[in-house]
Amino acid sequence: MGDATAGSRILVASNRGPVSFSRADDGQLTVARGGGGVVSGLSSVASHEDLLWVCAALSDADRAAARRAPGGMLPLADQEGGSAVRMLDVPAATFNRAYNTVANSVLWFVHHMLYDTPNRPQFASAFRRDWAAYRDYNRAFAEALAEAARVQAATPDQARTPEQAPTPDRAPTPDRAASRALVQDYHLTLVPRMLADLAPATRIAHFSHTPWAPVDYYRLLPEAVAMEVLDGILGADHAGFLCQRWADAFADCCEQVLGAIVDRDRHLVTHRGHVTSIGVHPLGVDAKELTSRGAQPDVEVRMASLAEAVGDRRLIVRVDRTELSKNIVRGLAAYRELLQSHPQWRGKVMLLALAYPSRHDLPEYREYAASVQRLAREIEDEFGSPDWSPILLSTHDDYPRSLAGYRLADVLLVNPIRDGMNLVAKEGPILSDRGCVLVLSREAGAAAELGDHALMVNPFDISETAAALHQALLMTDSERSRRCRSLAEAAGAVPPTAWFASQLAALDALDSHQDRD
Ligand code: F6P
Repeated sequence: MGDATAGSRILVASNRGPVSFSRADDGQLTVARGGGGVVSGLSSVASHEDLLWVCAALSDADRAAARRAPGGMLPLADQEGGSAVRMLDVPAATFNRAYNTVANSVLWFVHHMLYDTPNRPQFASAFRRDWAAYRDYNRAFAEALAEAARVQAATPDQARTPEQAPTPDRAPTPDRAASRALVQDYHLTLVPRMLADLAPATRIAHFSHTPWAPVDYYRLLPEAVAMEVLDGILGADHAGFLCQRWADAFADCCEQVLGAIVDRDRHLVTHRGHVTSIGVHPLGVDAKELTSRGAQPDVEVRMASLAEAVGDRRLIVRVDRTELSKNIVRGLAAYRELLQSHPQWRGKVMLLALAYPSRHDLPEYREYAASVQRLAREIEDEFGSPDWSPILLSTHDDYPRSLAGYRLADVLLVNPIRDGMNLVAKEGPILSDRGCVLVLSREAGAAAELGDHALMVNPFDISETAAALHQALLMTDSERSRRCRSLAEAAGAVPPTAWFASQLAALDALDSHQDRD
């Protein structure tokens, strides 16, 4: 990584961390890599950098590991850069209200526009209690980051490498060493403001991995909450988004909900005397690493058994967490309509739907997973025959099998209702052996980079999606390869390390003497 990251340890905060613990049968704690988009993006950065990664303990096993760790610090053993993790042991009830109720059932629903508005949301007194928990949980992160920033400021200069020594324009005041904190996602929107108050010299960036809601939809939130979220993020020096559309929606909300001054030409928002720069940092895939992972024996084994099941038929693939915004049900409905309206594909095509479990603590997610399974069974009943299964649905998380699916796909279907980016749309074309056609929702952040080479669909339009699947299946080999090459090139353009470095560079480019009120 370049100069932007030279210097002190970088502080990262995200709800889900790079590791998760579980209890083996003998009671021992065992460790595995954490899941999710933030973790995949940041893990490769952690292997090159000196990061302190602050995250929440998500389970009882995590809590036990966090309590046992000396000073609460767990080394990231497989990383080269000396990175460490601090898991915060937030009380379980507070965590549950902050994560399940506020972050996943309110902020996620707002940004992905998932509410059935005749009935929900309903913000009553219970929500105020949950909001207080969200604040407490954010405060725990802010305090841990402020403490880390103070430790760093107190580190004697002689213990630093020459690059780490303070430069003349970074005067060595007590808590002033070049601490940079990168705060991730909708779980932690209040952290930047809290951290700025606790450790004013820290350079702070916030990054949203989700879409940002249009202002009229954002206003479903109680006004004080809507303002507190925006004010929280604007405590940062830099606010990052995955595409221009989400950045613009955020700026609209700052202007119209908060009354902040938005300079659209210079991408700056001024609020309470502090200026926050707004940046677009698309996240892509490390093509080299993914290609090498995709060639491992565990992937080859799964390819062989998939290829046997598919035979000489065409293969449509989708890979998702079973998550309301992923639009799996409409995707299956589109496949059903393809088989109804184009009977020539019956017996000639299969859909591999890998729908991995997600957020099962929420009843809506459990119900959604059940609807996916119901519709898959209906399709099987309607069209299946003794020698043809139209659909292979699996809900068992198996990463090498996803990679095998990418390699064998003729068509990749990615049709979210809304999505911050969607890395499946980027991973698939990079690994495709056959030159897959991407059918992509116009509502995915990835559409900004991949749209020219994909078949774009309105995710609510089942007939249009079915027609796109038909068109994809009919496409000539040369057209498919041409499009797939362009998709792969765009998908690998900004690997996670470059994405991360661009945020640090944006932070480092800022005037260090901005006033905070
Ligand atoms: O996909 C958006 C996202 O915010 C990811 O960045 C993040 O990994 C995930 O959602 C959070 O999911 P979970 O609730 O499983 O941690």
